[in-house]
Amino acid sequence: MIGFYLLGRLTDLARQEIVSLATRRGERYKIVADRFVTVQGDDVRFYSRLAYTRVYGRVWFSTKRISDAGRLARESGLQQFLLSNQPFAIRSNVSPEFDARVGWYFDGEVNLKRPKTTIFVVRAGGRFYFIAPALEIRAKDFAPRDTKNRPYHHPTSLNARDARLLVNISGVLPGERFLDPFCGVGGILIEAAMVGADVYGIDAVEDMVLGASVNLQHYGLRGTVLRGDARSIPWTGFDAIATDVPYGRSSKVLTRDLRALYRDAFESMFSALKRGRYCVVVADRDVSPLLEMAGFYVDRVSNWYVHSKLTRRVHVCRKSG
Ligand SMILES: C[S@@+](CC[C@H](N)C(=O)[O-])C[C@H]1O[C@@H](n2cnc3c(N)ncnc32)[C@H](O)[C@@H]1O
Repeated sequence: MIGFYLLGRLTDLARQEIVSLATRRGERYKIVADRFVTVQGDDVRFYSRLAYTRVYGRVWFSTKRISDAGRLARESGLQQFLLSNQPFAIRSNVSPEFDARVGWYFDGEVNLKRPKTTIFVVRAGGRFYFIAPALEIRAKDFAPRDTKNRPYHHPTSLNARDARLLVNISGVLPGERFLDPFCGVGGILIEAAMVGADVYGIDAVEDMVLGASVNLQHYGLRGTVLRGDARSIPWTGFDAIATDVPYGRSSKVLTRDLRALYRDAFESMFSALKRGRYCVVVADRDVSPLLEMAGFYVDRVSNWYVHSKLTRRVHVCRKSG
């Protein structure tokens, strides 16, 4: 079993990225608490692509009574693991005092400053979960691909970590076909390509198409980017779609009728997507009726507060199988 302790913000979306990926991989998951999810699987490395998880890793055991930790560590093999990876540190979502106390249950050297490995103890749903080695998802891993660090930037583009969140919610797996029909300078495409997807993008503005191509190339990534119209997508057979639709000025490129633009683009996206797959649509308002009219089943709409004038709505949709 793998345990995921989430960052403290956008927790519903942070849960959704795990749920989407686990679902696509056929792995069972459990939402144990607001910030803690478990997945029945052992491919820990696969989940290093997550965006809004703080710490994750193998769960060796869980217990209701912390006093059973020493015995369960021996029975599960965690104790052996710690002896071959000492010195180790203990962290938790409880308190530093708790971390220090839990150290007494284990044989081996504890060193909080220079540990060789870390155990993360999550208290959730009335149990303690022991995760080791505790792997961190760090902001600095995304920073090189943030908007300001791309050769071609644009104010409407999403930062890398946020774009990765959407890509993960789309559930795209390595080698699968991924589409962003309003791709701008490629913020979402870059992250989809980073996780190994075969990426396709469309934008109505030539400059954006050039920007997306230059940006992909800059990171050594490949993709197909076309100047076109999201209302008539020239390809089909996509495994996932994630897109940040135009609002404000960028929506008036080809038409002034926003409702018709969304309606026709969603219909085109529905046709381009395979059955049983996810489509993630970000907008500045709830557009679920238009998504439903296009044929999508809207699983959830989450609010994403950006600033006082913009709260994004993230629509997680499915084309039923
Ligand atoms: C919110 S921006 C997308 C930003 C993008 N996620 C990025 O990382 O750069 C929306 C984009 O939709 C494009 N657009 C507007 N109308 C379009 C249409 N009918 N078909 C395709 N693209 C369109 C705009 O040129 C703009 O680049």
